[in-house]
Amino acid sequence: MAYRNNIKKILYGGDYNPEQWPEEVWQEDMRMMKKAHINIVTLNVFSWAALQPDEDTYDFTKLDKIMEYVGENGLKVCMATSTGAHPAWMAKRHPDILRTEIDGRKRKFGGRHNSCPNSPTYRKYAPKLAGELARRYKGYDNIAAWHVSNEFGGECYCENCEKAFRGWLKETYGTIEEVNRSYNTSFWGHTFYDWDEIVLPSFLSEHFDCNGRNMTMFQGISLDYRRFMSDSILDCFRLEYDVLKKEMPDTPVTTNLMGFYKELDYQKWGKYMDFVSWDSYPSPENTPAETALNHDLMRGCGGQDSFVLMEQTPSVTNWHPFNRLKRPGVMRLLSYQAAAHGADAIQFFQIRRTVGACEKFHGAVIDHAGRDDTRVFREVAQLGEELERLGDIFLEGRTPAETALLFDWDNWWAAEYSAGPSVRMKYLDAIKDYYAPLHSQNIPVDIISVTDDLSRYKVVFVPLLYMTKSGYDEKIREFVENGGTFVTTYFSGIVDEHDLVLPGGYPGRLKDVLGIWVEEQDALPEGEQNAFVYRGPEYPADILCDIIRLQGAKCVSAYQRDFYQRTPVITVNSYGKGKAWYVGTRSSQEFYRAFVSEIMQEAGVTGVMETPEGVEAAVRETKKGRVLFLLNHNTKEEGIVLEKEYRDLLEESVYHEGDLVILPAKGVRVLWAEI
Ligand code: GLA
Ligand code: ZN
Repeated sequence: MAYRNNIKKILYGGDYNPEQWPEEVWQEDMRMMKKAHINIVTLNVFSWAALQPDEDTYDFTKLDKIMEYVGENGLKVCMATSTGAHPAWMAKRHPDILRTEIDGRKRKFGGRHNSCPNSPTYRKYAPKLAGELARRYKGYDNIAAWHVSNEFGGECYCENCEKAFRGWLKETYGTIEEVNRSYNTSFWGHTFYDWDEIVLPSFLSEHFDCNGRNMTMFQGISLDYRRFMSDSILDCFRLEYDVLKKEMPDTPVTTNLMGFYKELDYQKWGKYMDFVSWDSYPSPENTPAETALNHDLMRGCGGQDSFVLMEQTPSVTNWHPFNRLKRPGVMRLLSYQAAAHGADAIQFFQIRRTVGACEKFHGAVIDHAGRDDTRVFREVAQLGEELERLGDIFLEGRTPAETALLFDWDNWWAAEYSAGPSVRMKYLDAIKDYYAPLHSQNIPVDIISVTDDLSRYKVVFVPLLYMTKSGYDEKIREFVENGGTFVTTYFSGIVDEHDLVLPGGYPGRLKDVLGIWVEEQDALPEGEQNAFVYRGPEYPADILCDIIRLQGAKCVSAYQRDFYQRTPVITVNSYGKGKAWYVGTRSSQEFYRAFVSEIMQEAGVTGVMETPEGVEAAVRETKKGRVLFLLNHNTKEEGIVLEKEYRDLLEESVYHEGDLVILPAKGVRVLWAEI
């Protein structure tokens, strides 16, 4: 279920806070939104205090007025439930709603996204407000979706959370013996005899600060706390979801996610959301590949359907250390990049720039000058006009990926809680190592979770799969047996889902499919490297060097130095009809490019098309045809020769096979070919 969209146009708009302004300003807002071709507003994101002045009173007078006003002006509404920041009176009267920090400090009222997810008060009043809103506004046919809370996140260490954690453990493990086994509590005499001996893993118990890293002495319990916290917050989403659906079963419900946000397992969350939406705020240092990777992750969380770009800034943020302006054309380019990776709506934070508090210097469609002749407004209006012309041409179009890259939240948590072998090892870096070359070759990629089916892919990359959950090895074996190409790396197959090592040699359950075992791992400090030669050139071996023993696999490259010189670093194993590769170290982008392109060639996977460096080509396929997005991220003009006939959807011209398309700096083409 995507946005309820009966206008057959891409929804375009953003967060709108008319409650902060006198009504004369609303009129001007409507004029400007019309001029910018905006057709949807997200309302009511932070209005809890205004809507509920005390325990029993709800006051919708202002929101009624706003709803009438935007409805009369033909706008669709993404209706937020306002539960992202609780009212001050509620915190005073019911302090259980306030969170406790990891060091035991109880918070006071302030900020936002500040409610304890296991607070009885929050769990009572948040869904109650959602229900009141749904009952009041269910008659409006312009509500395109419900937007629960706002950017759920964070964590809490209060006593209610501790109690709920024990309940979660009981449900998960059944017996205290099973908890003891899973956490290996015989280490350091941690054996629990009773459930209420179990305390939250915090700076008062298992955690300690190690040069700014939050480390734990018992990974098992810390890992479970993360799972529990993600589930607790998900429960809060679901409580509101259920009451909204009861009143308006046909209206989709979402909440805005944040890409690679470590605290919440979005792959699990996605299963409970009608559609995934997310807020994209790349900093100028982020590469186009990093932004694309986030979009692909978010698309994957929604089951590879499309997603909604719920927020982006039209121009500037206020919370980076230096808030550089998006250069001319960049907002348009990033919007089309989102669309190219699956976005079915493009929305901004925010429509009108606020005058007070910490977001007064955050970009907006209408800035403090309030004029429609600013650069930013003109760019927003131009994009709005273009999107209107594109109609529904790419809506719900799919990314035709034959390649998958596995990402697993549990593994992210576990790998980075690990004490040893190296603090330099970062799960996201390993993911990017493989994503970047795929992106630069314009190869469509699905970011998948461990629950996803592998049979639709030709190649599956599984970097740094430290935690190999029960059954996942079988999935991989079956995939390779049936002809798939599987690539994994150093520090994989080490532990099970409880972070317990799988004895018998690394990489545990993956040894047979890979035809190797790993005897030792050498963690290299910054500045020290080994090396290997791969198809000619020499590449660095960095961070971790696995010392590999062959058990059926072929050695493709060997280390050049040290006592493990001439032992394998890259291996390949033929297994059934497929192949399983192991890359036993971290190397350079040059290596990953060469390696990934060989893998893809062998597997018969080609990119969308060849483009100059910095020009991205991505497609979305619908039942009728294929939309090709050409995105020039460079600051100079680029030319691309087309391999077949395309119609330019924005320029209304036709290109023939062999024609040269010119893309200005930061320019975009949206092309169409019938299937
Ligand atoms: C987030 C929030 C918005 C706003 C923006 C500012 O995405 O959801 O309310 O604070 O950040 O960038
Ligand atoms: Zn709590």
